[in-house]
Amino acid sequence: METFEVRSGGGLRGRLRVPGDKSISHRVLLLAALADGTSTIRGLSDGDDVRCTRSIIGLLGAEVEEAGDGTLAVRGGRLSEPGEVLDVGNSGTGIRLLAGLLAGLPFRSVLDGDASIRRRPMDRVLAPLAAMGATAGGVDGSTLAPLTIEGGGLSGIEYAPTVASAQVKGCVLFAGLSADGPTTVVEPVATRAHTEELFAATGIDVEAVSGRVTVRPGRPDSFGHDVEGDPSQAAFWAVAASIVPDSEVVVEHVYLGPARNGFVDVLERMGADVRHDASTGDLTVRSADLRGTVVEAHEVPGLLDEVPVLAVAAACAEGETRFEGVAELRVKESDRLATVEELLAGMGAPVRVEEDALVVGGADLHGAEVHSHHDHRIAMAGAVAGLVADGTTTIGGWEAVATSYPGFTGDLDALRGGGG
Ligand code: S3P
Repeated sequence: METFEVRSGGGLRGRLRVPGDKSISHRVLLLAALADGTSTIRGLSDGDDVRCTRSIIGLLGAEVEEAGDGTLAVRGGRLSEPGEVLDVGNSGTGIRLLAGLLAGLPFRSVLDGDASIRRRPMDRVLAPLAAMGATAGGVDGSTLAPLTIEGGGLSGIEYAPTVASAQVKGCVLFAGLSADGPTTVVEPVATRAHTEELFAATGIDVEAVSGRVTVRPGRPDSFGHDVEGDPSQAAFWAVAASIVPDSEVVVEHVYLGPARNGFVDVLERMGADVRHDASTGDLTVRSADLRGTVVEAHEVPGLLDEVPVLAVAAACAEGETRFEGVAELRVKESDRLATVEELLAGMGAPVRVEEDALVVGGADLHGAEVHSHHDHRIAMAGAVAGLVADGTTTIGGWEAVATSYPGFTGDLDALRGGGG
């Protein structure tokens, strides 16, 4: 197990790029695998989650090659039965999107992942896939991974998921590409729009109007795509620059489209000095005094992955911050209500879980020995908290960071002027 030690120090200063957006990276790989011809992708996420999806499309028959200059060339269009189990690693997005794609393809495949993936709920995608006529499920009637999928023969449906989930929407829409007619997802609350945005950009017949997304069967055209920076990673630096005095950080070329920019609104409400330049995508953040706020349930799908680091901001703010309606955090890479509570309580913040709300009070944080619980975002939130805590913060299970941001430690070092 790797550990990482952080001590408080001087301001964070500089410009940086974060890894390409993880949600977009998974989707462009799947679309490139489906498209006839060669697609080129620049700026793909270098995290382990996306590496798994990249290997999986290779096992399905796509030809994936580094084309130099950070560009990946994917020759797709002729997918066939894989000779081995498809391992998504730690990736919930990977397994759920792939379940949809594979449900439509006329062969058998098995999707599996790590211990966390084997605990995460898959019934939310198995139910709509069954309604489309798919044969997909876990071992002996289980709805947990490993999932075996006998693909093909899907019917188009209209589906209204009960949880707001872009993974469920994406799964159903990917399956819809191989159905016998249109497929519609009606969302309870708008979630990130990457699937429909990328479908439209690659020539798929898709329409998104007032919470209804309809796709007609078809295949994407081959394409070129430049993946913008991941806002969920930029959020760590936005919070870090806000809470560490004498900081000014510019995160370049960040995607801040629908349902991904909620953390900026919340930080602004807390008094943060954040500016987003829509033309360049640059996000500029300077230190500021923060105050508590209420994050309402309807905002949560737009900042879901940012709650752990926003909770760190809340622990450094004056007054109390409430995150309402965050029950979905229980079924992420870790039970994030429990792991955020443990992290912040361990560092001295008054924090409690009230049914499906997380409540965090401001405090002077102190260093502690904390644990990632194999969750990349908990590890990085712990590191950000350690930047302002008194004494040393030691994060156990630091290797989890490689899931989405292998270069985090190097970037932190660079922002601290190489001073560690
Ligand atoms: C994602 C959707 C969200 C998010 C995850 C990525 C996606 O999950 O937490 O990190 O790419 O569709 P849910 O769909 O489970 O809310």
